[in-house]
Amino acid sequence: MAQKLKAAHPLEKRVLIEGIEEENSWLLSVYEQKMDGYKMARKAVGMEPDAIINEVKNSGLRGLGGAGFPAGVKWSFIPKNSAKPVYLVCNADEGEPGTFKDRQIMEHLPHRLIEGMICAASAVRSETGYIYIRGELRLAFERIEKAIEEAYEKGYLGKNIFGSGRNFDLTVHPGAGAYICGEETGLIESLEGDRGQPRLKPPFPAISGAFGGPTVVNNVATLAHVPGILRNGADWFIKMGGGSNRNAGTQVFCVSGDVQKPGFYEVPVGTNLNVLLNDICGGPQPGRKFKACFPGGSSSPLLMAEEFDVKMDFDSLAAKGTMMGSGAIIVLDDRRSIPEVAMRTARFYAHESCGQCVPCREGTKWVYTMIKRLCKGEGRKQDIDTTIEACNNMAGKTICVLSDACAMPVVSMLKKFRLEFEAIAKSDEEFVPHLPKVSGQLGGLMQAIRERQGFHK
Ligand SMILES: Cc1cc2nc3c(=O)[nH]c(=O)nc-3n(C[C@H](O)[C@H](O)[C@H](O)COP(=O)(O)O)c2cc1C
Ligand code: SF4
Repeated sequence: MAQKLKAAHPLEKRVLIEGIEEENSWLLSVYEQKMDGYKMARKAVGMEPDAIINEVKNSGLRGLGGAGFPAGVKWSFIPKNSAKPVYLVCNADEGEPGTFKDRQIMEHLPHRLIEGMICAASAVRSETGYIYIRGELRLAFERIEKAIEEAYEKGYLGKNIFGSGRNFDLTVHPGAGAYICGEETGLIESLEGDRGQPRLKPPFPAISGAFGGPTVVNNVATLAHVPGILRNGADWFIKMGGGSNRNAGTQVFCVSGDVQKPGFYEVPVGTNLNVLLNDICGGPQPGRKFKACFPGGSSSPLLMAEEFDVKMDFDSLAAKGTMMGSGAIIVLDDRRSIPEVAMRTARFYAHESCGQCVPCREGTKWVYTMIKRLCKGEGRKQDIDTTIEACNNMAGKTICVLSDACAMPVVSMLKKFRLEFEAIAKSDEEFVPHLPKVSGQLGGLMQAIRERQGFHK
């Protein structure tokens, strides 16, 4: 299916998605002719692994899947003389609500991802790679499969790639649509054919990951950045992001919700949020005002409109108590009810909890239930603090951070927009608690409880 993509906005800096507007950009021939494709893979297979790791380390490339962990540092944890095979896994699950950057790369530039994986595999001495892709991304899956086929035909994958003596096999593995399978150890479990439940760490995947072997898990965009870094050098990458190796390079931000021009835009890390939303995305819809946004996917604490004068980088967002996450900016204007947004956010996490940890399994459900009760006009003011307390008991206490991913945005909404929650809550005098009506012997007991506690009949 031919699809014409728009040219870059003048304020965009296309690196990850450079060439996306080319006709048939996903074909190997176009990637090689128009984008210097596979030249860096050819170079990487002849390089010392540590030289690749050092270049990526020096560039400051940080994981773009959510946590922002430095990629070169992660690669350096892989044992150099592992008796077990080393695995390279690309996390293409892209489950974070609001995120659609990996999909663009895979649909339009699948060879850039494959080239990035060949470079990364050379760095960590891996001969086996997997792309774990979200099952619903049908077109991306087809294009990646076709691209892998083309790369095998040319001798860029398989045995003795580029005649270098190195081997690298790559397989695509579609998931079945569970958010938790994006968490790297849940992903590994699922890849191995088990239920996608996160593992206790340590051991971290770098020591014992897929099939018990040392494993690197990286996001699509992280890996797709590697050829550019090898081509242009670490300094080029640092300068693009404003000169610091903590906030280097570019990110493809996915902007959705209440803006005039939602879409995906690649800009230097550190671009001001106001510039992104007003100058590039056209500002709020006519007659409306921005109210808030999730700056890094639904797991990130909300920023209020008056906080939008912030650089979109890891450190500046952390200083505002939020995060860059997966690069998904979900914009809310003055029509949106924050309690409704909080309810839907909590419902998502309650639905996606894998259920292993009590604070997450019970906490996400209770948070959802309490906010839903408020939204239905049946909650009371003290529910606001009870919900905050429940959230505080969910964060930092579980096997993975899905629990935190629910608690953090919900607490930000409860605190920053408390008045909206208070406006729909009942006072203690107005509040009428309900117990379900039950017949028989149990019904008699319930009635006694109701009467003793002054419950509504
Ligand atoms: C619940 C949950 C879901 C996640 N989903 C994704 C995802 O869809 N894609 C992704 O790249 N990382 C996801 N992550 C982060 C991964 O665990 C891991 O940190 C990431 O793949 C590492 O790649 P990076 O260092 O290149 O960012 C998720 C984490 C959690 C806790
Ligand atoms: S925090 Fe939630 S999703 Fe993560 S392992 Fe525990 S129960 Fe599962």
